[in-house]
Amino acid sequence: MTVITRPTPVELLPDPVRRDTSERYERMRSVVPEVEWLLYAPYVAAINQLKAERNAVVLAHNYQTPEIYHGVADITGDSLALARMARETDAEVIVLAGVHFMAETAKIVNPAKTVLIPDPAAGCSLAESITAADVRLLRQQYPGAPVVTYVNTSAEVKAESDICCTSSNAVEVVDSLDAERVIFLPDQYLGRWVAGQTDTEIILWEGSCIVHERFTPEEVRRFRAAYGGDIEVLAHPECPPNVLEEADFVGSTSGISNRIETIRPSRVLLITECSMASNLAADHPDVDFVRPCNLCPYMNAITLPKILRSLETMTHEVTVAPDIAERARLAVDRMLEVGRGRAG
Ligand code: 13P
Ligand code: SF4
Repeated sequence: MTVITRPTPVELLPDPVRRDTSERYERMRSVVPEVEWLLYAPYVAAINQLKAERNAVVLAHNYQTPEIYHGVADITGDSLALARMARETDAEVIVLAGVHFMAETAKIVNPAKTVLIPDPAAGCSLAESITAADVRLLRQQYPGAPVVTYVNTSAEVKAESDICCTSSNAVEVVDSLDAERVIFLPDQYLGRWVAGQTDTEIILWEGSCIVHERFTPEEVRRFRAAYGGDIEVLAHPECPPNVLEEADFVGSTSGISNRIETIRPSRVLLITECSMASNLAADHPDVDFVRPCNLCPYMNAITLPKILRSLETMTHEVTVAPDIAERARLAVDRMLEVGRGRAG
């Protein structure tokens, strides 16, 4: 008697695709069902092959979806890690799987490379909240106060700034200036969080992240109540202060990952972007991730078909006018010097 068993979805993939992608799939199997992988795998195989032909690397932010983050990225990390790695890569082409300001930062720190963004509309509510003219006005209003600018800004805004920061190093950057007061742009919530940890007076701008500002303290309390207190609440400092007060730990993207590595909680409530939780869940199958799903629409504009098209057509190339790039580079390089030798 012959018993014919139905093939699993992965077994339906053509042999070369299955062979070339199986190792990548194992990294995300716990968060990407096989039926979805059936759609993703041909793109993953084609992208990884084209990267080699083009001498390209894909840099992916932690907020990219798992099929990108685990499937085609060569380098993954938060804004700070991506800026550092963009400066160091030997590849000729950098494909930035993230948002536009990250691609601009890569071009600023490594101008000789071709930097591509798969969708130029992948913006950021923080970057859109402020212009270079706004920064010049603030300087007139607060003469002598140095301008500390979150990397989530355009190249033009960076060019008007004294130094950049990310959420990983914001306090360290502010303290490094030894100033009585600083202008901190553009995230009001990150700025307030920094103000709570430094003696420097912080002058704020009213920008915010549309993903993190949506969390509420009631939501955090509801989750805590539902899990009987057996839950570690980790929040990103782009959240409003009344949300941060409810958290057990407040930290940047890398800070949150490191915290999970260190304390190995059995259950975590992640108060940050939702794909980050999926990527962490893939890396930590022993941890139960509770994720109120706030997805960043800008980060989600990047997809596997767009990454493939980007490599096929070498679009959309990110350029920064040389005079702007030169001034912006000073601000980014100063930031990279502050954190030198230290993990983000
Ligand atoms: P970090 O990568 O600096 O934590 O920033 C979070 C973020 O919102 C990126 O867009
Ligand atoms: Fe910008 Fe917020 Fe999206 Fe990050 S998560 S890219 S800060 S809108």
